[in-house]
Amino acid sequence: MTRTPFVVANWKMNGNTQANLAWIESAKPQLHAGHYRCDIAVCAPALYLTQLVDGFKNTAVMVGAQNCASYEEGAYTGEISAAMLADVDCDLVILGHSERRTLFGDTDELVAEKAKLAFSHAVMPILCVGETLEEREAGRTIEVVTRQLRAVLDVTGIMPFVAGAIAYEPVWAIGTGKSATPADAQAVHAALRAELAAYNADASQKVRILYGGSVKPGNARELFEQPDIDGALVGGAALKSSDFLGICDHANALTE
Ligand code: PGA
Repeated sequence: MTRTPFVVANWKMNGNTQANLAWIESAKPQLHAGHYRCDIAVCAPALYLTQLVDGFKNTAVMVGAQNCASYEEGAYTGEISAAMLADVDCDLVILGHSERRTLFGDTDELVAEKAKLAFSHAVMPILCVGETLEEREAGRTIEVVTRQLRAVLDVTGIMPFVAGAIAYEPVWAIGTGKSATPADAQAVHAALRAELAAYNADASQKVRILYGGSVKPGNARELFEQPDIDGALVGGAALKSSDFLGICDHANALTE
C-alpha cells in the first residue's frame, strides 16, 4: 500500500477527565513518536480536546473533534466553530457521522458547509458516508455513498480529503458487532475511489478511505489487506486502549 495507513478512534459521547487520563497513560508507552509508521488519531468530545492535546504531546498522535458548526461565528448558542477547534490545536474533525445524520439532522448540505469551514481553518475533515440496511438490501449502496460524497466534494473539492480522510461506515455495521465482509467493504471503497478520481485522478490515489463499523483487533487485519481499505474509524473498540492499539498494530504491520 502506498498510502500511509490511518487508524482513528471515535470515542463518541464517552469518557471523563479521569478515564481519559488513564487511557492516555496506558497507551503512551506505545504511542511515542517513532513507534508507529501508520498515522493515528483520537477524536474526543470537544470538552476534552485540550486534555488530549496536552496528553499526547511528544507523541505522533493527532487529536480530532466529532463535529463542528456550519457557521463561522456569532449567535449560535451551544455550537463550537471550526476556528475554535483550530484555536485549541485540534487537527481533525469527523463530519457526517451517521449518528449525526440520523439523530441531529446533519444533511449533506450542512456537512459540506462544515467541511468547507473546517478546511479553511486547517482542521482536516474525516467525511463519513454509509448506507442503511434498507438501502443495502434495495441494492442502493453505491448510489447512496456516491451522493453523500459528491454533495461535499462539489462544494469543497478533493484537497481537504488528501490531508483528512473519507470513512465508509455502513450504518448497519456501526456498534452492532456485524462488520461488512472485507470483500463487500472493498467493493464500496473501490467505487468511492473511482468517484474521487472524477475530481482529480492523482489526488484520488492519495486519499485515505477508512472502513468503520465493528472493527476489532480480530477483524482489522483482513480488512486492512484489501487494496482500497487504508485504515479504520473505530468506535467501541477504541474505548479500551489495548484494543485500539491492537488495531494500530495491524495497520502498522502493513507498512513493513
Ligand atoms: P463501532 O463504531 O466501531 O462501534 O462500530 C464506529 C463508528 O461509529 O465510527
